[in-house]
Amino acid sequence: MIFDTHSHYDDKQFDTDRDELLKGLYAAGVECVVDVGADLASSERAVALSEKYENVLAAVGIHPDSAFEADDSGIERLGTLAKNKKVVAIGEIGLDYHWMVCEKEVQENAFRRQIHLAAELSLPVIIHSRDAAEDTYRIMKDEEANICGGVVHCFSYSAEMALKYLEMGMYIGIGGVLTYKNGRKLKEVAAAVPMERIVLETDCPYLAPDPHRGKRNDSSYIRYVAEELARIKNISYDEVVGITRANALKMYGLDKNI
Ligand code: NI
Repeated sequence: MIFDTHSHYDDKQFDTDRDELLKGLYAAGVECVVDVGADLASSERAVALSEKYENVLAAVGIHPDSAFEADDSGIERLGTLAKNKKVVAIGEIGLDYHWMVCEKEVQENAFRRQIHLAAELSLPVIIHSRDAAEDTYRIMKDEEANICGGVVHCFSYSAEMALKYLEMGMYIGIGGVLTYKNGRKLKEVAAAVPMERIVLETDCPYLAPDPHRGKRNDSSYIRYVAEELARIKNISYDEVVGITRANALKMYGLDKNI
């Protein structure tokens, strides 16, 4: 069964049919999803969803676009939320120089503080990094994020950069972009990264794979990503699903419970 390591079912776009979708995951071949927070409010919603649905886990974190929230009280709130037993990671956190909603210094400060929090709580991190490969890598090195481990989600950099993150012990998160005609760079990354270090993700409602590109994404579409990865790696679909599931369990520290 598929493990969707990164989703946003707390998003408004799911208001009309969230319950139906989450209850139908199993029938769609999806065993488990992690609902990832992007600010304090969505982190609270992620935890609430994880409490309501057995097959939903949560991550709590402040995305670089909301980095201004990461003051003392914001970090304290995250720390409290993270103590919930269904919270498996701190994320998504990182740097976004594409939209630059918050200034670089504000983003960097929020990023560093949340890596500290993850280390304190012994949780992995979910990294969001856009147009900021070098700074993300530098800060993670600096803060010894390798001790936390985790994933660089929706990986958008070169294969060379992917190998540097692998050396740091991180997993590479791959989603819908892999199926796009202009997704050549990510296909190269997928070819270069060993299967043992790849996890599947939707990032839904965003980034629906072909042939649903442009529409609302959900976890049932992750099979198109798995099919494309099977083609690139020249292995079976079932192997892709099995290996990435095992990786996800290990990455989120869930393998110890099995
Ligand atoms: Ni996301």
